[in-house]
Amino acid sequence: MKITLAGQGWSFDAEAPDTVLQAAERAGVILPSSCRNGTCRTCICQSTSGTVRYKIDWPGLSPDEKREGYILPCVAIATSDLVIEAPAARLR
Ligand code: FES
Repeated sequence: MKITLAGQGWSFDAEAPDTVLQAAERAGVILPSSCRNGTCRTCICQSTSGTVRYKIDWPGLSPDEKREGYILPCVAIATSDLVIEAPAARLR
C-alpha cells in the first residue's frame, strides 16, 4: 500500500503487519506519537482517502471521528492506498 502525506507530498510503502506509524518510521518519516497502543491520541490524523483496519479492538476514536476519516496511525494498518494529513510530520 502506498501512504501519501498530503501536505508534504511525501509517500512511502506500508505492508501489514506494519502499522502506518511503523511504516513511516521505516521510511524515515517521523509522525507524532507517544503511547503507540491506540489510547493517547497523540498520533491522530485525518485521512482524506483510503481505508485502514486496527490491530486493537477499540482504538480511541469516536464514531464521528471515524466517519470524518480520523485515524490513529500507531495501531492502523493500511488496507488500501492512503492519503493522510500530518502537518507535524518530519523527516528523520
Ligand atoms: S501514539 Fe498514542 S494513540 Fe497513537
